[in-house]
Amino acid sequence: MNERSGFSWQRLGRQAEGLLGVSANRISNAANLSALLYQELSDVSWVGFYFLDGQDLMVGPFQGKPACVRIELGHGVCGTAAVSGETIRVADVDTFDGHITCDAEARSELVVPLFKQGQLLGVLDVDSTSYDRFSEQDEAGLEDLARIYLASVS
Ligand code: SME
Repeated sequence: MNERSGFSWQRLGRQAEGLLGVSANRISNAANLSALLYQELSDVSWVGFYFLDGQDLMVGPFQGKPACVRIELGHGVCGTAAVSGETIRVADVDTFDGHITCDAEARSELVVPLFKQGQLLGVLDVDSTSYDRFSEQDEAGLEDLARIYLASVS
Protein backbone atom coordinates (compact mmCIF):
# COMPACT_ATOMS: atom_id res chain seq x y z
CA MET A 1 0.00 0.00 0.00
CA ASN A 2 1.44 3.35 -0.94
CA GLU A 3 1.58 6.11 1.56
CA ARG A 4 0.57 9.47 0.34
CA SER A 5 3.42 11.05 -1.55
CA GLY A 6 6.26 12.33 0.55
CA PHE A 7 5.69 9.92 3.43
CA SER A 8 8.85 8.65 5.09
CA TRP A 9 9.21 6.57 8.25
CA GLN A 10 12.58 8.20 8.77
CA ARG A 11 11.09 11.65 8.81
CA LEU A 12 8.26 10.48 11.05
CA GLY A 13 10.90 9.13 13.42
CA ARG A 14 12.58 12.52 13.61
CA GLN A 15 9.21 14.18 14.26
CA ALA A 16 8.52 11.64 17.01
CA GLU A 17 11.89 12.28 18.64
CA GLY A 18 11.06 15.97 18.85
CA LEU A 19 7.54 15.40 20.07
CA LEU A 20 8.44 12.83 22.72
CA GLY A 21 11.65 14.52 23.84
CA VAL A 22 9.85 17.03 26.02
CA SER A 23 8.47 14.48 28.49
CA ALA A 24 9.33 11.09 29.97
CA ASN A 25 5.72 10.37 30.91
CA ARG A 26 4.44 7.09 29.45
CA ILE A 27 0.86 8.22 29.06
CA SER A 28 1.62 11.67 27.65
CA ASN A 29 4.08 10.29 25.12
CA ALA A 30 1.74 7.44 24.14
CA ALA A 31 -1.02 10.00 23.58
CA ASN A 32 1.11 12.21 21.38
CA LEU A 33 2.64 9.32 19.44
CA SER A 34 -0.83 7.89 18.75
CA ALA A 35 -1.95 11.27 17.47
CA LEU A 36 1.14 11.69 15.29
CA LEU A 37 0.80 8.23 13.73
CA TYR A 38 -2.92 8.60 13.16
CA GLN A 39 -2.37 11.93 11.48
CA GLU A 40 0.56 10.91 9.29
CA LEU A 41 -0.26 7.33 8.21
CA SER A 42 -2.71 6.91 5.38
CA ASP A 43 -5.53 4.41 5.54
CA VAL A 44 -5.38 3.57 9.24
CA SER A 45 -8.53 3.31 11.33
CA TRP A 46 -7.04 2.91 14.80
CA VAL A 47 -3.67 3.62 16.41
CA GLY A 48 -3.00 3.12 20.06
CA PHE A 49 -1.43 1.52 23.07
CA TYR A 50 -2.35 -1.28 25.42
CA PHE A 51 -0.44 -1.34 28.70
CA LEU A 52 0.22 -4.33 30.92
CA ASP A 53 -1.81 -4.21 34.13
CA GLY A 54 -1.43 -7.38 36.15
CA GLN A 55 -2.16 -10.27 33.81
CA ASP A 56 -4.05 -8.20 31.24
CA LEU A 57 -3.44 -5.54 28.66
CA MET A 58 -5.57 -2.47 29.27
CA VAL A 59 -6.30 0.08 26.59
CA GLY A 60 -4.21 3.24 26.84
CA PRO A 61 -4.06 6.39 24.74
CA PHE A 62 -5.35 5.89 21.22
CA GLN A 63 -6.93 7.53 18.18
CA GLY A 64 -9.92 6.02 16.41
CA LYS A 65 -13.17 4.42 17.48
CA PRO A 66 -13.73 3.27 21.07
CA ALA A 67 -11.87 -0.01 21.56
CA CYS A 68 -11.85 -3.19 23.64
CA VAL A 69 -10.75 -2.23 27.16
CA ARG A 70 -9.10 -5.44 28.37
CA ILE A 71 -7.12 -8.08 26.46
CA GLU A 72 -5.78 -11.13 28.24
CA LEU A 73 -2.14 -12.00 27.67
CA GLY A 74 -1.91 -14.64 24.95
CA HIS A 75 -5.23 -13.58 23.42
CA GLY A 76 -5.81 -11.75 20.16
CA VAL A 77 -3.07 -10.25 18.04
CA CYS A 78 -2.08 -7.88 20.84
CA GLY A 79 -1.91 -10.50 23.58
CA THR A 80 -0.01 -12.88 21.31
CA ALA A 81 2.56 -10.23 20.37
CA ALA A 82 2.97 -9.34 24.04
CA VAL A 83 3.66 -12.95 25.04
CA SER A 84 5.88 -13.83 22.06
CA GLY A 85 7.86 -10.61 22.14
CA GLU A 86 7.62 -10.49 18.35
CA THR A 87 5.95 -8.00 16.05
CA ILE A 88 2.87 -9.47 14.36
CA ARG A 89 1.69 -8.27 10.98
CA VAL A 90 -1.69 -9.62 9.88
CA ALA A 91 -2.80 -9.10 6.27
CA ASP A 92 -6.33 -10.42 6.90
CA VAL A 93 -7.56 -10.52 10.48
CA ASP A 94 -10.04 -13.30 9.65
CA THR A 95 -7.08 -15.63 9.13
CA PHE A 96 -5.60 -14.94 12.58
CA ASP A 97 -6.86 -17.51 15.01
CA GLY A 98 -8.22 -15.68 18.05
CA HIS A 99 -8.20 -12.20 16.56
CA ILE A 100 -10.25 -9.92 18.79
CA THR A 101 -12.76 -7.81 16.89
CA CYS A 102 -13.05 -4.36 18.40
CA ASP A 103 -14.10 -2.79 15.11
CA ALA A 104 -15.95 -5.08 12.68
CA GLU A 105 -14.54 -3.09 9.77
CA ALA A 106 -10.88 -3.72 10.64
CA ARG A 107 -9.14 -5.93 8.05
CA SER A 108 -5.41 -5.79 8.70
CA GLU A 109 -3.32 -5.10 11.75
CA LEU A 110 0.25 -4.48 12.91
CA VAL A 111 1.24 -4.95 16.56
CA VAL A 112 4.66 -4.19 18.08
CA PRO A 113 5.35 -5.40 21.63
CA LEU A 114 6.98 -2.89 23.98
CA PHE A 115 9.69 -4.03 26.36
CA LYS A 116 11.53 -1.63 28.66
CA GLN A 117 14.64 -3.06 30.34
CA GLY A 118 13.42 -6.56 29.60
CA GLN A 119 9.99 -5.97 31.14
CA LEU A 120 6.80 -6.07 29.11
CA LEU A 121 5.26 -2.61 29.12
CA GLY A 122 2.50 -3.20 26.57
CA VAL A 123 1.94 -3.08 22.82
CA LEU A 124 1.57 -0.51 20.08
CA ASP A 125 -1.26 -1.46 17.71
CA VAL A 126 -2.24 -0.08 14.30
CA ASP A 127 -5.36 -1.19 12.40
CA SER A 128 -6.67 -0.58 8.91
CA THR A 129 -9.98 -1.25 7.19
CA SER A 130 -8.00 -2.32 4.08
CA TYR A 131 -6.65 -5.82 3.57
CA ASP A 132 -2.87 -6.16 3.62
CA ARG A 133 -2.34 -2.50 4.46
CA PHE A 134 1.02 -2.98 6.18
CA SER A 135 4.28 -3.80 4.41
CA GLU A 136 7.58 -5.10 5.74
CA GLN A 137 8.78 -1.53 5.57
CA ASP A 138 5.85 -0.43 7.74
CA GLU A 139 6.73 -3.17 10.21
CA ALA A 140 10.33 -1.93 10.46
CA GLY A 141 9.12 1.67 10.59
CA LEU A 142 6.66 1.06 13.42
CA GLU A 143 9.33 -0.89 15.33
CA ASP A 144 11.62 2.16 15.04
CA LEU A 145 8.86 4.41 16.35
CA ALA A 146 8.29 1.98 19.23
CA ARG A 147 12.02 2.18 20.07
CA ILE A 148 11.84 5.97 20.04
CA TYR A 149 8.83 5.80 22.38
CA LEU A 150 10.58 3.38 24.74
CA ALA A 151 13.74 5.49 24.83
CA SER A 152 11.67 8.58 25.65
CA VAL A 153 9.85 7.21 28.70
CA SER A 154 11.14 6.55 32.20
N1 SME B 1 -7.60 -6.70 17.18
C1 SME B 1 -6.83 -6.65 18.39
C2 SME B 1 -7.60 -6.00 19.49
C3 SME B 1 -7.31 -4.57 19.67
S1 SME B 1 -8.05 -3.59 18.58
O1 SME B 1 -7.79 -3.94 17.22
C4 SME B 1 -7.95 -1.99 18.88
C5 SME B 1 -6.38 -8.02 18.79
O2 SME B 1 -6.79 -9.03 18.19
O3 SME B 1 -5.61 -8.11 19.74
